[in-house]
Amino acid sequence: MSNRLANKVAVVTGGTSGIGLATAKLFAAEGAHVYITGRRQDVLNAAVAEIGGKVTGVKADSGKLEDLDRLYDQIKTAHGRIDVLFANAGGGSMLPLGQITEEHYDDIFGRNVKGVVFTVQKALPLLKEGSSVILAGSIVGIEGNANFSIYSASKAAVRNLARSWILDLKGKGVRVNVVSPGPIHTTGLVELAGDDKAQQQGLLDYLASTVPLGRVGEPEEIAKVALFLATDDSSFVNGAEIFADGGKAQV
Ligand SMILES: NC(=O)c1ccc[n+]([C@@H]2O[C@H](COP(=O)([O-])OP(=O)(O)OC[C@H]3O[C@@H](n4cnc5c(N)ncnc54)[C@H](OP(=O)(O)O)[C@@H]3O)[C@@H](O)[C@H]2O)c1
Repeated sequence: MSNRLANKVAVVTGGTSGIGLATAKLFAAEGAHVYITGRRQDVLNAAVAEIGGKVTGVKADSGKLEDLDRLYDQIKTAHGRIDVLFANAGGGSMLPLGQITEEHYDDIFGRNVKGVVFTVQKALPLLKEGSSVILAGSIVGIEGNANFSIYSASKAAVRNLARSWILDLKGKGVRVNVVSPGPIHTTGLVELAGDDKAQQQGLLDYLASTVPLGRVGEPEEIAKVALFLATDDSSFVNGAEIFADGGKAQV
């Protein structure tokens, strides 16, 4: 590793699993002090132990404003700033039009939209000139997908938040970008197929067949895109959506 994030303070929400965990590991290996969040304390403790290096776990639900206040108060006291903020926490489930419930809508928009909005807004006082905000989008934000309209619409919303926020932040030197993965082999993805291992493998095999590269991605492949967006390598990249999808949404 080349210590590209030496002396930087990075926050990865939902940093206990999948893409967030892989990104937190990479950021820590590159020298950052990484704060990770998640809603389950035992899973958070395990992730902190696995990441090693300068890492702090804070139990926080991105949809709960008081949790975000506690997270940022802790960082303000310890560092007074955030250099990299990856609003990664999120996820979803599937229901077709006709069966969408209020709980389904509130859960998905709560995690993917409300959570992202307040994760970023409440961090603003700590985001100084030169800092980088990364939002977790998805290829489904630009696609139609059966049974997945609410999740897909929530990710389309995330994409527009970046476009609009770079105008709200004009002149402040804070960049906001979106990383939009295709299918990535994580717990969040395979659980869309339920608990059954054979069904989970069936989903992975089907998704792999839809990707021009012929496979699903690994969380580490998204972490590397997040690292690019986190560093000055992307110093003039702002309001962009970077797809890391093996070509799935590009054809
Ligand atoms: N995997 C894919 O194929 C894929 C593709 C496109 C986009 N994405 C997006 O990438 C992001 C990460 O996905 P993933 O597949 O890595 O998910 P994952 O394996 O299910 O991990 C999700 C992480 O977020 C945390 N989390 C969930 N809701 C939270 C909340 N309200 N507050 C704080 N933490 C929360 C989870 O921990 P707790 O449950 O303990 O809170 C966990 O650490 C999500 O935004 C997802 O929509 C994923």
